[in-house]
Amino acid sequence: MASAAPPAFLQACLRRPAPFTPIWLMRQAGRYMPEYRAVRARLGFLELCKNPEAAADVTLQPVERLGVDAAILFADILLVLEPLGIGLTFTRGDGPRIDRPIRDPRAVRALPEIDVEDALGFVFETVRRARKALGDRVPLIGFAGAPFTLASYLIEGGPSREFLVTKAFMREEPAAWVALMTRLAEITGEYLNGQIAAGAQAVQLFDSWVGTLSPADYRDYVQPHTSRAIRALQPGVPVIHFGVGTGGLLPLMKAAGGDVIGLDWRVELGPTWQRLGHDVAVQGNLDPAALLSGTEAIRRAAREILDGAAGRPGHVFNLGHGIHKETPVEHVKALVDIVHELSAR
Ligand code: CP3
Repeated sequence: MASAAPPAFLQACLRRPAPFTPIWLMRQAGRYMPEYRAVRARLGFLELCKNPEAAADVTLQPVERLGVDAAILFADILLVLEPLGIGLTFTRGDGPRIDRPIRDPRAVRALPEIDVEDALGFVFETVRRARKALGDRVPLIGFAGAPFTLASYLIEGGPSREFLVTKAFMREEPAAWVALMTRLAEITGEYLNGQIAAGAQAVQLFDSWVGTLSPADYRDYVQPHTSRAIRALQPGVPVIHFGVGTGGLLPLMKAAGGDVIGLDWRVELGPTWQRLGHDVAVQGNLDPAALLSGTEAIRRAAREILDGAAGRPGHVFNLGHGIHKETPVEHVKALVDIVHELSAR
C-alpha cells in the first residue's frame, strides 16, 4: 500500500474544522500537574486508581488544562497483576514493587484464575464515568501492559535496567515462559475488551521494556504472545502498540499487530516511518526531556518532528516516553498549542 487513510479514530480527534496533527501525551495525567498532586495529597496511588470517581476526574485533567486531543484512562499497567496475588505496592519515590515475584515454573502454575470483570471492574467503571464526562469532546483511550513488560515486572519484582532475571527465566524455563506469557496475553485481551465494552474508543498496548531484547529473542519469545493479545481484541477499535528503545524491533512489532506504532525519540520519525511503511500510522516522538527547556527550543523540536511526518495523515504527535515529573505544566501546554498551530493547514 502506498499511502493509507488514517485510522478512523484519528479523524474522530479532529475537533477543529481544519485538519491538523492530533496530540496526546504519555502519562499526560501525572505529578507534573498541580491538580494531580492535589488529588494525590488525599489518596495513595492505588487508592486513586481504585476510586472511579477520582480516577475519572484525573483522566479529564489534561484535556481541560492542556487541550490534548484525547483523554487517556487514568490507571496503571500493573493493576492487572494485583489480582494474581503477587503483592503489588507503589512506594513513594521507588515506583512499583512486587513482594512475591515469579521465579520458577511452580509459581507460574500456582497463579490463580481471575475473573477480570470482578477483579478489575473499578477500571471499567472509571472508563464509563470518564466517557460520560467527556461527552463528544475528545475520544477516550484505554490501555494495558503487553505480556513481556508485565512478565518482566512479575519476574524481576520491580523496575530493572538489564532484565537479567527475566532473560534467564525465558531461556531456562521455556515451557513456563510460554505458559506465563499465554496467561498474560489472555488476561490483557480480556482486560482491554472490558475497557472497550465500557467505552474506550482506542486502546494502547505498552510494551515499554521490550527494547531490551534482540530481534531474534523478540520474535521467538514475545511476538506470538503480543500478537495473541492483539488478535483477541474487539475488531474495529484502533490499537496503538508502543515500546521504548525499539529501533531494531519496529518491523517485528508492526508484524505483531497494531494500527499505530509508537516511536521513541532515539529514532528519526521520517525515515523510520518510511522504513515501516506508510500503511501503518505512527505516534511520537519528542524526547520528554525537551519539555524542560523553554518554548523556543520546544518549537524547534516539534517542528522537526512535524517536518519528518511531512503532513501525512496517520501521525499522532506524542512524546517518546512519559512526561518527567519535573516538567513545568506551561511547557506542556505550549507544546500542545505549538503542534496545533504548526500543523493547521
Ligand atoms: O498517560 C496517562 O495519563 C495515564 C496514566 C498512566 C499511568 N501509568 C499512571 C501512573 C499510564 C498510561 C501508565 C502506564 C505505565 N505504568 C507504564 C507504561 C508506560 C511507560 O511509562 O512506559 C509503566 C511501565 C507503568 C508502571 C509504573 N507505574 C511505573 C514504573 C511507575 C513509577 C514511575 C514513576 O514515575 O514514579 C508507575 C506509577 C505511576 N503510574 C504514576 C502515574 C501517574 C506516578 C505515581 C504517583 O502518582 O505517585
